[in-house]
Amino acid sequence: MPRRRLRFVVSAGPTREHLDDIRFLSSPSSGRMGFAVAAAARRAGHEVVLVAGPVSLPDPPGVRTVRVVSALDMRVAVLAAFRRADALVMTAAVSDYRPARRRAGKWKKGAARLSLPLVRNPDILAEAGRRRGRRVCVGFAVEVAAPLRAARGKIRRKHLDALCLCSPEAFSADRADYRILFPDRELERYPWIRKGAFAGRLVDLVEELAARG
Ligand code: CTP
Repeated sequence: MPRRRLRFVVSAGPTREHLDDIRFLSSPSSGRMGFAVAAAARRAGHEVVLVAGPVSLPDPPGVRTVRVVSALDMRVAVLAAFRRADALVMTAAVSDYRPARRRAGKWKKGAARLSLPLVRNPDILAEAGRRRGRRVCVGFAVEVAAPLRAARGKIRRKHLDALCLCSPEAFSADRADYRILFPDRELERYPWIRKGAFAGRLVDLVEELAARG
């Protein structure tokens, strides 16, 4: 059977939450997983919008790549593309908090000790999940201690079809241990798999979930 051409939105990389014009809070996410998913979806014939935080990877060929910096920017770009999409794959390591205030220029040092007020960023995936209708929604989470219960809670709270759990090496290595959790079926294990290979599996999964409707 020919594949149905789907419209994918994929997010990738970290976000940067600026304290001033130079410094920021962020994470070491390389963006490689999201770029691999975007490229695999494109190769499979789908239309892809890739919303990427600051990473050093080039735009994948044939993919509309939107470059953003902060979680607030990412939210606007992802939700705009999501409106006319069939599937969202949210691999981005979105910063949960941002400094309450961004200072202009360079923040000069002063006191020996400093507290920094932070405010919560919106949860982009949860927001998309609430208005998903029949769209497919897949999330990612880095796995630490006792992850399964927390992961099942995230699937429910964010209205996901699947949540990919990865080991912490996923931030820096080309391979990692991945597991896919579902609301309604057995988990799938992909030990020490290359990100490119896992991306291919995810595209197949999204096609399957979209066909189920
Ligand atoms: N995510 C998001 N917006 C945020 C935080 C996370 O869209 N502000 C997405 C991530 O891209 C990922 C999924 O939610 O696909 C899970 O991220 P994670 O940080 O594990 O979830 P949180 O809900 O932030 O839970 P925790 O308190 O464990 O950090």
